[in-house]
Amino acid sequence: MHQEYSNFNLIDHPLVKKDITVIRDVQTDCESFRAAISRVANIIAVNLSTNLSLIEVEVETPLEKTKGFKLAQEVVIVPVLRAGLGMVNGFLQVMPDAKVGHIGLERDEKTLKPVEYYYKTPGNLVEHEIILVDPMLATGGSASAAISFLKKRGAKNIIFACIVASPEGITKIKEDHPEVKIFGAALDRELNENGYILPGLGDAGDRTFGTM
Ligand code: PRP
Ligand code: URA
Repeated sequence: MHQEYSNFNLIDHPLVKKDITVIRDVQTDCESFRAAISRVANIIAVNLSTNLSLIEVEVETPLEKTKGFKLAQEVVIVPVLRAGLGMVNGFLQVMPDAKVGHIGLERDEKTLKPVEYYYKTPGNLVEHEIILVDPMLATGGSASAAISFLKKRGAKNIIFACIVASPEGITKIKEDHPEVKIFGAALDRELNENGYILPGLGDAGDRTFGTM
């Protein structure tokens, strides 16, 4: 856990640092941006999955029975649309049998409040480990709202994974959902007056889908 923020795990990895630089660079084209997001998501997934619980099972090798393990709960990866979609493949490479739900949230650029426009997840969320993914944790409004929607549908175990986090966003999640652990690849300085992360990477959705 981070020294200053007890709910935040910073993924400290040389390849992540290299790729965050690619992601931040205004000159990076859409294809390279997507590829770098996916690689970083993949490394976050590997690190984050060390927190998943196991249960013991018996396995029969060609020679004898022995002890084995399986995940205690099935995993549901839930990207926040749009930009969260860019992290899904990186996660699925590590957890290929995970289910994928979707939450469509758009930040109202005047109020900076999230507005829901789509929701589809498996029904029995209580039985699953939920990994919510969104590259940006800025004001924290979107992630906090997404977590609330998931809890309303019964989710109990929720982890949040992002690429870039702001101090303000981490603090908001701690206040609203103290039990939710956050895994991020960068902890940036602050938000600007429009709620953008500084130094940040700009608009993650636009850069992922080429809609600048
Ligand atoms: C971005 C980002 C988060 C949100 C973060 O999405 O992907 O969902 O902003 O900001 P917040 O922490 O202040 O809520 P955006 O609303 O731009 O939608 P998009 O992914 O469709 O572009
Ligand atoms: N959403 C983004 O895409 N980028 C930011 O810096 C903040 C919110």
